[in-house]
Amino acid sequence: MKGIILAGGAGSRLFPLTLVASKQLQPVYDKPMVYYPLTTLIEGGVRELCLISTPHDLPRFRQLLADGSFWGLAIEYREQPKPQGIAQAFLIAESFIGNDAVSLILGDNIFYGADTFQRAFAEFKTGATIFGYHVNDPERYGVVEFDANGHAISIEEKPQQPKSNYAVPGLYLFDNNVVSIAKGLKPSARGELEITDVNLEYLRRGQLRVHRLSRGFAWLDAGTSSSLHEASAYVQTIEKRAGIKVGCPEEAAFRRGFLPLERLELLAVRMPRCEYRDYIAEVVAEAKRL
Ligand code: TTP
Repeated sequence: MKGIILAGGAGSRLFPLTLVASKQLQPVYDKPMVYYPLTTLIEGGVRELCLISTPHDLPRFRQLLADGSFWGLAIEYREQPKPQGIAQAFLIAESFIGNDAVSLILGDNIFYGADTFQRAFAEFKTGATIFGYHVNDPERYGVVEFDANGHAISIEEKPQQPKSNYAVPGLYLFDNNVVSIAKGLKPSARGELEITDVNLEYLRRGQLRVHRLSRGFAWLDAGTSSSLHEASAYVQTIEKRAGIKVGCPEEAAFRRGFLPLERLELLAVRMPRCEYRDYIAEVVAEAKRL
């Protein structure tokens, strides 16, 4: 399974922060926002990645993540000149996807919690897998309606009268048919190629699985100043309390077997003296003790 991180968009709700750096490069507590979705994909076992952003912001992402080889990853980059919809990612990244299945994660979505995603990645074979998360304000998202047996029966994009409180978070797993489905989409009234239309096509084909995320799971989107601040506070609370880091790609790559222990150790040695380095050094020391 390959992975796309979609990190373009206007970021207008974060103005003036986004005048100088894109939304997904803003700090969420102790690391750039894009580290979190990147870590989620690594934890899912994804090693080949494509990051899509604006022509203006792409050079900064390259500076941050390069080709990913120092983390045992392979990262490619593609431009999205204008934010013409999430589903456009499959057209932009067609040559990257090739004949493989692909996961897509939004660059401002932060997930923390149980191993639901890892299981979904491991079990994925065909069709589409998306998730449902109970929220207070479903009208801001794609909303899934379930029948009495828990099967998805409809999805509506930003409905005025939501049929449930289950919003679809920004992580999607698709088989290779997603490319041809995206090619057949027409722009919506707001001029975008909608990811909800892709999901509806899989639903129509009887190939859509929707996993409901449990109560203990956290899904944060950091698109406004308040939610950015809240995400930072949340990450800080977890990290302080548990003594672990959320969204640490080096650690995830190591635990997934993409990065040998010696290379992880070398990465830590080359970091400036800081708390992040101390943490990686601790992961190394713990691995050596076991
Ligand atoms: P949004 O938060 O809906 O949009 P935005 O990031 O442009 O922010 P604002 O509304 O404040 O102007 O996008 C969700 C995520 O998807 C975000 O990480 C950006 C990304 N995105 C793209 O990269 N390209 C697109 O065409 C769209 C629609 C979204």
